[in-house]
Amino acid sequence: MSTKIFAHRGASKQAPENTMAAFTLAYQHGADGIETDVHLTRDHIPVLIHDEHVKRTTSSTGYIKDFTYRQLQKLDAGSWFSSEFAGLRIIPLDEFLEWIYDKPLYLNIELKNNKIDYNDLESIVYDRILHYDLLHRTILSTFNPRSLNKLNYLNRDINTALLTTKRGKNLVSAAQELGANAVHIKYRLLNQFLVDKCHHEAMGVRVYTVNRPRQMLRCFAVGCDAIFTDVPDRAIRFRNQF
Ligand code: G3P
Ligand code: CA
Repeated sequence: MSTKIFAHRGASKQAPENTMAAFTLAYQHGADGIETDVHLTRDHIPVLIHDEHVKRTTSSTGYIKDFTYRQLQKLDAGSWFSSEFAGLRIIPLDEFLEWIYDKPLYLNIELKNNKIDYNDLESIVYDRILHYDLLHRTILSTFNPRSLNKLNYLNRDINTALLTTKRGKNLVSAAQELGANAVHIKYRLLNQFLVDKCHHEAMGVRVYTVNRPRQMLRCFAVGCDAIFTDVPDRAIRFRNQF
């Protein structure tokens, strides 16, 4: 099976990350899936943004957890990237699920609960995925082991992944014990031994963030299940030539 290409925060080199513009572009480029990040507003609405704070990618400042959904809607999430995208909003998870529902795309939703403890993020996101009947093509990933436990408790059949930046010889068994069925690793941790070990244990191995052609080719060569890239069009071009 060839390596799947997930657009990391959408086609985030060509459009502002985690916006409908970036997701639409990734789909037009032919990505197999889309990776995105989810936080909770003060009134418990799941919204798509990478950072805990709005400063880097919007016209305002403050933590997502302190904004109501209505307040967040007033922020401009496109101008920081280019004036061409002025007026784009931070979108709720529901808008993304509604959009992706009739498209042949996989979803990787990263639960951003490793720095802020959003108590019920897991159950809220899980509920929305069930609502749109998308469980079979969704992967929920997190850096937070406790979150994997919670997901496992909700439903053992959820596709889950442990995210890591750290090398560790017990990574695969640690992920298994947490009920994950894949590991999502930083590119510098990649090696053939780890890929083979994951596959031997029926675990997936997906790699982030892979933007350079040389890195892409290496991921394809060692048999990674997927890569996360900011440039899905480039990755597809190189996969076609591989
Ligand atoms: O899910 C892979 C990758 O997105 C994790 O790191 O910081 O880009 O969310 P980050
Ligand atoms: Ca992410």
